[in-house]
Amino acid sequence: MNKKYGKRKNFSSFRDKAGEEFDEDFYDEDTEAQEDAPFDHDGGLPFGAKQKSLSADDSLEDSLDKMDESVRPRRLSEFVGQSELRKNLQVFLDAAKKRKKAMDHLLFYGNPGLGKTTLAHIIASELGVNIVSTSGPALMRGGDLASIVSNLQANDVFFIDEIHRMPMQVEEVLYPAMEDFKLDLVIGQGPAAKTIKIDVEPFTLIGATTRLGLLSAPLRDRFGIISRLEFYTPQELAEVVTRAGRILGVQISPEAAMEIGRRSRGTPRIANRLLRRVRDFASVFGEGVIDEEQARHALSRLDVDEMGLDEMDRKILTVLIEHYDGGPVGLKTLAVACSEEMRTIEEIYEPYLIQCGLIKRTPQGRMVTARAYKHMGHLA
Ligand SMILES: Nc1ncnc2c1ncn2[C@@H]1O[C@H](COP(=O)(O)OP(=O)(O)OP(=O)(O)O)[C@@H](O)[C@H]1O
Ligand SMILES: [Mg+2]
Repeated sequence: MNKKYGKRKNFSSFRDKAGEEFDEDFYDEDTEAQEDAPFDHDGGLPFGAKQKSLSADDSLEDSLDKMDESVRPRRLSEFVGQSELRKNLQVFLDAAKKRKKAMDHLLFYGNPGLGKTTLAHIIASELGVNIVSTSGPALMRGGDLASIVSNLQANDVFFIDEIHRMPMQVEEVLYPAMEDFKLDLVIGQGPAAKTIKIDVEPFTLIGATTRLGLLSAPLRDRFGIISRLEFYTPQELAEVVTRAGRILGVQISPEAAMEIGRRSRGTPRIANRLLRRVRDFASVFGEGVIDEEQARHALSRLDVDEMGLDEMDRKILTVLIEHYDGGPVGLKTLAVACSEEMRTIEEIYEPYLIQCGLIKRTPQGRMVTARAYKHMGHLA
């Protein structure tokens, strides 16, 4: 037991280091404190015949994502975009199938809604194995993880969403399981406690995170493959929209699909959501195929502008410009001024605003760029 505590201490110092090393974008003094802030995460939706559900959260995620489920790609060939990553995955999948062994552990990182959960499920179905899903915060104790891992069948995929939120004591149980497919179980308490090793079936761990920098170095190092999901191009998103339209029975012109693609913040989940809303408008105001004009009308009614910015994006820019002369402003202050969670601003809104070149992060805080002034109709 004592040994364990000692180890934990070591690892937490690693974690701090990892945060510093990898989170180089996060200069803000108030970034640290928001690690534990509550966060609405509507990620992992189980699908596929062999899915097993493990956490109570899954049923909530189920209902939140039910609409997404029907359009979620199930095979790698249906997955749009991320062409480099897709090509590499195909090689890893072929190699694992040829060797008839478990695939190497994989870590996906990237913004919400870019397809991390989707890819985890695709990998399991391409390999023809079970997928067992859980999430970092659902694993409270080492024992929770041990009981899942010891029930896996040979070569199964074990998916941990939001893996950066897994408690340290659970992480320690995961290390030997990932490395040697062994579990160190502690039996008894106090000085009489004994550690026994048990073997588990080889498995593939797939971790997903929106915050690579918050992963401890020892955990990160145990993944054989670490892949970043990028924002999608408008063309790729138009393809996502056209495909989803086909599945949902919505007829949409290529120009209208492109219009939605352009305004979806580089994110397939948003493209699918906008398609459904545009369909609602079209079913009331139009008929037949959704054309560009109808798409434009619906999107402007939804307050989504030409760059895909929504009300909150514009609020962030307005607060920076009008209240703080363009910045720099610390994240905490910005969050209070916008009445929004720091975490939501940092993980959902800011990455796209930075990607568009509308704001930048400086050691002193967030600042708007000349482009933001122009976009918001101010003279720089
Ligand atoms: N490449 C893609 N092609 C087509 N549709 C996609 C693609 N990627 C994602 N989607 C769609 O977007 C939805 C969201 O994807 P997914 O749940 O995999 O995102 P995520 O990265 O796990 O997000 P989070 O970080 O919030 O958990 C899916 O239901 C799917 O329909
Ligand atoms: Mg997810």
